[in-house]
Amino acid sequence: MPLVTSTEMFKKAYKGGYAVGAFNVNNMEIVQGITEACREEKAPVILQVSKGARAYANHTYLVKLVEAAVLECPEIPVVLHLDHGPDFETCKACIDGGFTSVMIDGSSHSFKDNIALTKKVVEYAHDHGVVVEGELGTLSGIEDEVVVEGEGSYTKPEEVEEFVSKTGVDSLAIAIGTSHGAYKFKPEQCTVNEKGILVPPALRFDILKEVSKRLPDFPIVLHGSSSVPQDYVAMVNQFGGKMPDAIGVPEEQLREAAKLSVCKINIDSDLRLAMTGTIRKFFAEHPDKFDPREYLKPARANIKELVRHKLVDVLGCAGKA
Ligand code: G3H
Ligand code: 13P
Ligand code: ZN
Repeated sequence: MPLVTSTEMFKKAYKGGYAVGAFNVNNMEIVQGITEACREEKAPVILQVSKGARAYANHTYLVKLVEAAVLECPEIPVVLHLDHGPDFETCKACIDGGFTSVMIDGSSHSFKDNIALTKKVVEYAHDHGVVVEGELGTLSGIEDEVVVEGEGSYTKPEEVEEFVSKTGVDSLAIAIGTSHGAYKFKPEQCTVNEKGILVPPALRFDILKEVSKRLPDFPIVLHGSSSVPQDYVAMVNQFGGKMPDAIGVPEEQLREAAKLSVCKINIDSDLRLAMTGTIRKFFAEHPDKFDPREYLKPARANIKELVRHKLVDVLGCAGKA
């Protein structure tokens, strides 16, 4: 089937109590690892491209890589989405250039300016059959080159109805305590459980539930949802890397969110960790090798297995294509 929008995907996910995985893509091996797992697990998928990805790999290369994946995986629905669109022009370039979904990230603007910018993108996108994700609230960490200091600010539930009705967005990203990157929580924010594992503070499910009450049947999006698997952190550190105190969102909490109104869960850092850990290990164990195919092959295989785990054990979208 050709690229689709997320409209039907989100309706089914909302009703079915699961979330669709939105994975960031930057090169061929990442596209292949993700989509091979989704095809084998019969899962719908959102492949998303950031401003940084377009600058790195070039818009056309990324669109054509995703189109190749669609040809290779005809059984599963695939959305091509712009992640953290910074302005109208970038959204327009993606709408004109083959994307089926865009995010306009107006979260760093005032509420009023966020509404105006998002509405402008929605009007253009809907005229062209493309859906739009907006954002209210800011995540701590890095939002596509915009460094958000400190704790970020949680979404204010009392703003969501006005934002959605005035802009016409199709889905809404909210801030409930997730953040971008591999360092989401400081060790001193965490408690230690009986197995000696650091447990981060719980996500703000109270905010999520209040938002859902105010926006019935409306798809909610979670950014910054990597879990930062500790075996890959250990692999990076064992083979010459230095990522002390990298901590992510516990997967059980994402599973809970997916059962509620969260229909799209964004994962990027976990893929980066799997790729980097695998390549570091390969180089340490095979110092004589220099063929990129030899070290990218196990990296792609580990991305595939990580995505399979997310589909089956975290998102609940395996078998839903
Ligand atoms: O939320 C941001 C995504 O992880 C994309 O990151 O801007 O480095 O491509 P990037
Ligand atoms: P992570 O850094 O937690 O993978 O978040 C990715 C994301 O939100 C992309 O928009
Ligand atoms: Zn994000």
